[in-house]
Amino acid sequence: MKILVTGGLGFIGSHTVVELQNEGFEVVIIDDLSNASEDVIQGIVNITGKKPLFEKIDLREKAAVKDFFKKYNDVAGVIHFAASKAVGESVENPLLYYENNISSLVYLLQELKEKPEASFIFSSSCTVYGQAEKMPITEDAPVQAAMSPYGNTKQIGEEIINDTAKVTNISAILLRYFNPVGAHPSAEIGELPLGVPQNLVPFITQTGMGLRQELSVFGNDYPTPDGTAVRDYIHVVDLAKAHVIALQRLLNKKNVQKVETFNLGTGTGSSVLEVIHSFEKVSDKKLPYIIKPRREGDITEAYANTDKANNVLGWKAQLTLDEAMSSAWEWEQKVRNK
Ligand code: UD1
Repeated sequence: MKILVTGGLGFIGSHTVVELQNEGFEVVIIDDLSNASEDVIQGIVNITGKKPLFEKIDLREKAAVKDFFKKYNDVAGVIHFAASKAVGESVENPLLYYENNISSLVYLLQELKEKPEASFIFSSSCTVYGQAEKMPITEDAPVQAAMSPYGNTKQIGEEIINDTAKVTNISAILLRYFNPVGAHPSAEIGELPLGVPQNLVPFITQTGMGLRQELSVFGNDYPTPDGTAVRDYIHVVDLAKAHVIALQRLLNKKNVQKVETFNLGTGTGSSVLEVIHSFEKVSDKKLPYIIKPRREGDITEAYANTDKANNVLGWKAQLTLDEAMSSAWEWEQKVRNK
């Protein structure tokens, strides 16, 4: 069965391609290479022994999307990762985010609605909850006004899919990720941010390598046990496996609603200092860091209630924060020593 993975050379996309191929799916990747390298294909081949099909397409080009579905008229399902994801950049350049993240989604759905049936998995984010009132966060926690254009594209994306599924043969699962971290245990694929990393874990591993002088810990005056902000860090391999399970649920028509939503997290919150300590433990290195003021737009805490994913989807995160940090560190060392 052929599955389209958009953004399949990116961080979460590439790990999902590996898990799909391991489960026997044939994969065709669309990626515009704006934030990924074609070399990732070799990493996927090294892990799975199989080469995915690849088309370099910018999904903002409606005609190219149309042509793709003419060429691959046997695509049974779509996992849609392709999107811009830097919060700060989205504030600077909102139209880039609205164009890239929204028009690509619309063009894909326009093609899928012509099919007798279609299964669609969407990369959403816990950012839709803002600072939720209650921890852990359940799927029915209210969606709050987005704090950035990036976050808004995830909310609007969910609405577009809900509206479209009502009147078409498209069934969808919206996956709200908490904080994806780590790398494949083979160190063949991982996260490769362009420029200075904005996210915590790549900044830590780059500091461990000496590429950055020190980590800034944004705020130690939060109302949390150690004063630093708390997130739910989920290993990217666990996250990738959830996509395969979600896709199989749709393909096997096990879904009970046209659109279903699941939180993907571990259910455990970790503070910034706990993440640093985990890195120090697995790398046997002291990480230089300083305390800085809170970062604008950051929330105090977010961690998932995973009951729905556990009980309905039948998926549970298996890997620990230490395993995630250790794999991220292996990957960082391998990339820098190439
Ligand atoms: C952010 C986005 C989220 C997005 C995710 C992508 C928001 C509010 N957050 O999550 O939507 O899906 O990135 O991975 O839109 N930190 C430091 N020093 C650093 C970097 C981070 O102390 O150099 C702290 C942050 O203040 C935060 C924690 O580490 O408390 C995690 O930060 P980060 O990895 O950037 O993820 P989020 O902001 O949670």
